Amino acid sequence: MKTILDAAYVSVLLVLLLSAEAVPIGRRRCGDGHCRFVETCRSCPEDCGECSEGGGLFPQLFPLQGFSSKKRIKVFFLFGQSNMQGHGCKDHLTELLNNPTTTTKYSQLWDVTTNDWAERPDVRIRNCGQEDNPYPCRETTRLRSVGEGATVNKFGPETGFGWTMGDALEEDIFLCKAAWGGKDLAIDFRPPNSSDTMYNGDESPLSLVYDGIDPESYSVYYEETLGVFQKCIEEINVYAPGYDSYEMAGFVFFQGWNDVVDLEKVGEYQYNLRNLIFDIRNDLGLPTVPMVVGQLGQHTSAELASWKSDMDPGIQERWDRVMALRWAQGNATEKSINAALAETSLIVDSSDRCPTYADGTLHEDVCGCDSYHYYNNAQIVYDIGVDMANEMLTLL
Ligand SMILES: *[C@@H]1O[C@H](CO)[C@@H](O)[C@H](O)[C@H]1NC(C)=O
Ligand SMILES: *[C@@H]1O[C@H](CO)[C@@H](O)[C@H](O)[C@H]1NC(C)=O
Repeated sequence: MKTILDAAYVSVLLVLLLSAEAVPIGRRRCGDGHCRFVETCRSCPEDCGECSEGGGLFPQLFPLQGFSSKKRIKVFFLFGQSNMQGHGCKDHLTELLNNPTTTTKYSQLWDVTTNDWAERPDVRIRNCGQEDNPYPCRETTRLRSVGEGATVNKFGPETGFGWTMGDALEEDIFLCKAAWGGKDLAIDFRPPNSSDTMYNGDESPLSLVYDGIDPESYSVYYEETLGVFQKCIEEINVYAPGYDSYEMAGFVFFQGWNDVVDLEKVGEYQYNLRNLIFDIRNDLGLPTVPMVVGQLGQHTSAELASWKSDMDPGIQERWDRVMALRWAQGNATEKSINAALAETSLIVDSSDRCPTYADGTLHEDVCGCDSYHYYNNAQIVYDIGVDMANEMLTLL
């Protein structure tokens, strides 16, 4: 007991000592005299000095040194909020595998040799940034069909995406995933180009619009995302050893719930999403790299129709918000170069919602059925990843 206490005490001291020295992680403070974290000569020449050539965080094609094999790996960055983390339920996927009508579609996700969830040697993943710890990285490097979701018993779009891209592309793939639950675009992921004004026609200062929000909270997860992407590239040899070069191949952004709940955030979603697409590419020095945006698709057409015709204006307003956010996603991708929308609502509309057993009874006891998490439905979550991959393939 004593040693444990001592160790805890020492680590507290260490944290205190380090934090006195350490530069705060989070929002970039350009002009503070430190070139650090995600600052570059491009984003902050004041701290980092002028760029000598090119600029951006990474070159699009980058040779790795010291490997004899002549293999290139394609890097895809996946980011967003809880549905990018992923809430597809393992037990529902088991059910789909055992059900004779669906087993063929999912059989590739189960390894009969190991009698366990399948792994892909040609698709690597670095999946960190979950929960409260900014970088509790899992040790997995090969993509597993289940286990890279919000918990080890869940999966997210990386499964359908990784399996589809892995089958479609000749090169091997490295997925870099950065997702946090409950984060909005208006504040948490706010892109730098949206920094001081809110798009509402008269560009009011932010402080007047999002009342009571600490200015330091803006853009924290935009910066965290860049930080995770940077770590992925720095540690690419660890997660995907044996390649002699990599290519920055694309982004997938899947987010929206924490904006759709607030009319003001919905109002500036298109503006913020366009800026996000521009800024994340710009900060990585990849101005035309493909960008797929996953639509906020949780609600079925039937549900939306019932809201629209409801006598209660409070319920009607839900329709307004959901549709306005979807239109914002559609318009922002349409107006951005080399971007596409994965219309997840079409998948939800043509699927069962709550996970069910083969006999039709509900699976809520184990899986839950959260509407905002696509009902924890393994088929929906898998198909969303497949759809994102198919959209990505049209852009490559
Ligand atoms: C973002 O800001 C940069 C630098 O001020 C500017 O060149 C660029 O056009 C802006 N992008 C968008 C999409 O507004
Ligand atoms: C763009 O927004 C308008 C409403 O402002 C909407 O009617 C249209 O469907 C949207 N386009 C896309 C591609 O979502």
